[in-house]
Amino acid sequence: MSVLVFEDQATASRAAASHIQSTIRIAVANRHRAVLGLATGATPRRVYAHLVELHRAGQLSFREVITYNLDEYYPIQPLDPRSYRAYMHDLLFSHVNIPPHQAHVLDGTVPEKFADQHCAQFDRWIAEDGGLDLQLLGIGRNGHIGFNEPGDLPLAEALALPTRFVELDTITRRDAARDFGGEDRVISGALTLGIASILAARSILILATGARKAEAVARALGGPMTYRLPASLLQSAASRVIWMLDLPAAAGLP
Ligand code: GLP
Repeated sequence: MSVLVFEDQATASRAAASHIQSTIRIAVANRHRAVLGLATGATPRRVYAHLVELHRAGQLSFREVITYNLDEYYPIQPLDPRSYRAYMHDLLFSHVNIPPHQAHVLDGTVPEKFADQHCAQFDRWIAEDGGLDLQLLGIGRNGHIGFNEPGDLPLAEALALPTRFVELDTITRRDAARDFGGEDRVISGALTLGIASILAARSILILATGARKAEAVARALGGPMTYRLPASLLQSAASRVIWMLDLPAAAGLP
């Protein structure tokens, strides 16, 4: 896997935005569309701010861009400010020229008995759009990607995980406590793109900043491939993965 280390979060975010910009340019030139998998959380906020700046400066159009978000809490209303739909609207979709029907986020309001069907449909839509040109990822302190939480699954089963409903891990709920006003108030479920869905992307950009991520980053890059640390499964797509880190997040690397 390629690993690029930047002095600070600001520089890493700028580099990530410019990588996304060139991915869009190349995909639109070759196939008249760019299909992006987008991530939420604190880490990519500045990346979206840069993409908006590039759009405002006339250097980036989203007209031919189709997006699929990585995950969403479940159940949640899209107008709930803690939903990832609201996050994407506030930070990106409402500031750029992406046609609304091209911006997909898993639906936190789908009735429970249809959740599996909805998730399977999300994977099909991505495939029908030609697959993801780029999947943007962050990493949880427990090594999760999307909301694929650590577990004991054998490797082959973990690599085959589709988009689905999941229960959130304790560390994830602790980290989300600030957004929800307390750990016990964090929504306990989510819909997430699966490991297989993520790994199917033509390229993967994983961004990690801050000392809190250093241990997970070091294990994902240097440890064994195991679902106990879901980000380590990116090793199976090594030639298509780029890590962008700031110095504190890279502190555990040799
Ligand atoms: C969140 C999201 C992930 C994200 C990760 C890290 O809970 N579901 O997609 O990458 O955890 O979040 P942050 O960037 O806030 O540290």
